[in-house]
Amino acid sequence: MARVSALRVAIIGCGFQGGYHAQALSNTRDVRVTVCCDADLSVATQLADQFDGCDATSDWEAIMSDPAVDAVVIATPTHTHTNLAIAAARANKPMLLEKPMATTVDDCLRIEAAARAAGVPILMGFKFRFAPAVLRAKQAVPVGRVLSGHTLYDSAQITSSWVSNPHMSGGRVTSSLVHTVDLLRFLTESDPARVSAEASDLLGTGEPTTIAATIQFENGAIASILHGTSTRSPLLSAWSFTTSTSDASATVFDHCRQVAVRANGQDQATFVDDVEDPFAAGMEGLAQAFADSARSSTAHSPHGRDGVISLVTCRAIEKAAGSGKTQKVEIPSQV
Ligand SMILES: NC(=O)c1ccc[n+]([C@@H]2O[C@H](COP(=O)([O-])OP(=O)(O)OC[C@H]3O[C@@H](n4cnc5c(N)ncnc54)[C@H](O)[C@@H]3O)[C@@H](O)[C@H]2O)c1
Repeated sequence: MARVSALRVAIIGCGFQGGYHAQALSNTRDVRVTVCCDADLSVATQLADQFDGCDATSDWEAIMSDPAVDAVVIATPTHTHTNLAIAAARANKPMLLEKPMATTVDDCLRIEAAARAAGVPILMGFKFRFAPAVLRAKQAVPVGRVLSGHTLYDSAQITSSWVSNPHMSGGRVTSSLVHTVDLLRFLTESDPARVSAEASDLLGTGEPTTIAATIQFENGAIASILHGTSTRSPLLSAWSFTTSTSDASATVFDHCRQVAVRANGQDQATFVDDVEDPFAAGMEGLAQAFADSARSSTAHSPHGRDGVISLVTCRAIEKAAGSGKTQKVEIPSQV
């Protein structure tokens, strides 16, 4: 059988999330991490040293023009995504683009337009779609109609200072709320139509850190979520959700490690996943999807459209919390 040549991937942004991507991709069949790039060369070198034959650089433009790079991961602070992603599209490099797609909806649309014009696939870093526990819940309840969830993160785990600057992160709450919104779209197989919300500044940071939101979907599904970076200990953080129809439900709990399924009035099963590190949940599946998408130059969801709709929905939730009024989710016609 002919041997497939390895997909050569560059990691751009070698901090917290870039490190997870590099590890997951290096564990993926026929994928090699060949370049690590960071604005801080010492950070790039530290990551590159973990992989055989991997170079380090601080020059992302050189990566875009390097024919020996087949695909790129963009895991830099969110305000830098637009320039990097448009450059990757123009250079014909399939990309795994971290969430949020960009800090503004306009920038998301510019990225999406550049990728479409060039025919370059974008895979968004919505890793929870690939977490084994989430996939089991989705198998048990293929199209959820009533959903509820807590995605409350430990603020101490957010160590990058740029996250608290909304111009760099897109907003402290929205920066992670995009994940929850994407997960709800995945579970309901529908787009949000209307939202209402309340927000609270539990940590006294001067901006909301926690949001309670209700989302009505186009297909009639309804979701209620509590989301934020409101705890000061991993023991208090909570990551769980229930997706249900009138005769079945699946609850993912214990930070994506366990799933309880109920149907026909009975407990069906409780699955336990051997996830040591909840932050890594879904990273392997995401890496495999990226390899498949980049190798075939075919879009694989979650793609750019999902990144745009997730940010549009978060902006509507913020507006609802600020105004106290239900908001329509206006999905731009170009996506
Ligand atoms: N999918 C997830 O679960 C998840 C989790 C955490 C972070 N993220 C996202 O990943 C991205 C990175 O977040 P992080 O927590 O890893 O941040 P981080 O601060 O830990 O790392 C970012 C790195 O990018 C480097 N950098 C900045 N500008 C650059 C540029 N122009 N070119 C090359 N390198 C540059 C910085 O020096 C830094 O080392 C953000 O968009 C964030 O929202 C996603």
